[in-house]
Amino acid sequence: MTRVFSGIKPTGHLTLGNYLGAIRRWADVDQYQSDALFCIVDLHALTVDHDPARVRRLTRQDATLLLATGLDPKLCTVFVQSHVDEHARLSYVLECVATDGEMRRMIQYKEKSARERERGGSVRLSLLTYPALMAADILAYGTDEVPVGDDQAQHVELARDLAVRFNQRYGHTFVVPRTASPRVAARVMNLQEPTSKMGKSDDSGPGIVYLLDEPETVRKKIMRAVTDSGRGVVYDQAEQPGIANLLEILAACTGGDPEALSGEYETYGALKKDTAEAVVEVLRPVQDRHRELCTDPAYVEAVLRDGAERARAMARPTVDAAYRAIGLLPAVAEEAEPNATR
Ligand code: TRP
Repeated sequence: MTRVFSGIKPTGHLTLGNYLGAIRRWADVDQYQSDALFCIVDLHALTVDHDPARVRRLTRQDATLLLATGLDPKLCTVFVQSHVDEHARLSYVLECVATDGEMRRMIQYKEKSARERERGGSVRLSLLTYPALMAADILAYGTDEVPVGDDQAQHVELARDLAVRFNQRYGHTFVVPRTASPRVAARVMNLQEPTSKMGKSDDSGPGIVYLLDEPETVRKKIMRAVTDSGRGVVYDQAEQPGIANLLEILAACTGGDPEALSGEYETYGALKKDTAEAVVEVLRPVQDRHRELCTDPAYVEAVLRDGAERARAMARPTVDAAYRAIGLLPAVAEEAEPNATR
């Protein structure tokens, strides 16, 4: 079975964009069709200025929300990155395979470090080495496929390069992952700035619908979405990004097609109203289940404990094999050779 790995960083509250763009598919498709691991990548949340209490809180909340969206620990493995030492162990080895130049070429590093410097802040070294850790996340599990958005494609590409290079130099150790073929997931944009993604790390609230927003808040945000002065309800991403975004969201929530839906509306108001209700309905079961799970934190903890144990058992043999291959002396007498890749 195809092994799939994906991660979310606990750096902000999860949004409708995260849900319609990725997480919903993990729950509805990936966990059934593949051997999937979903990881709250908390170590990655430490690469920029952070508040320890907030990271801890968001890690717990993200785990709870993932379960609330329907991820079933009987079908997939849900766990927290820092609970499995193998990520950090392998990350170091991959830093010894990667080059300084290739890390500095990463677009996300260039953008984030420039922004930080502009603000007069300092750039953490871990922001530069982040892609090595991400490659470790992926390679430790013999991952075949990594379902992520375009913004992460370059990092997955790097993980591929590192796997190939390591295998060539030190012997076949890693499965070379594929960037999951572009998926027909919705690309949800910020309601106030429909040309930029509805990301969780942006702090401008009014354009972002959070998974845990109250129905009234969801309605208000959508009714206040910016629209385009123009030709009525047409689906045109370049000319009418605001309307196109609402149509995309409505289509993603109702299973329709944005182009076809545009024909059903005369006014922006009617489109907004239906979009708001569709979003409220999509979020309702997730919020209900989240509320339930919050009354049982011991259950969520048990899922994470069990997930980490399973993840560790999967990653251990591969990371041990990488340590041996690169020349590190095993601490204990070699056991029977474990399968290097799986
Ligand atoms: N870098 C990803 C992001 O910012 C999160 C991530 C970390 C990830 N490790 C991963 C995604 C491994 C997929 C696989 O969204």
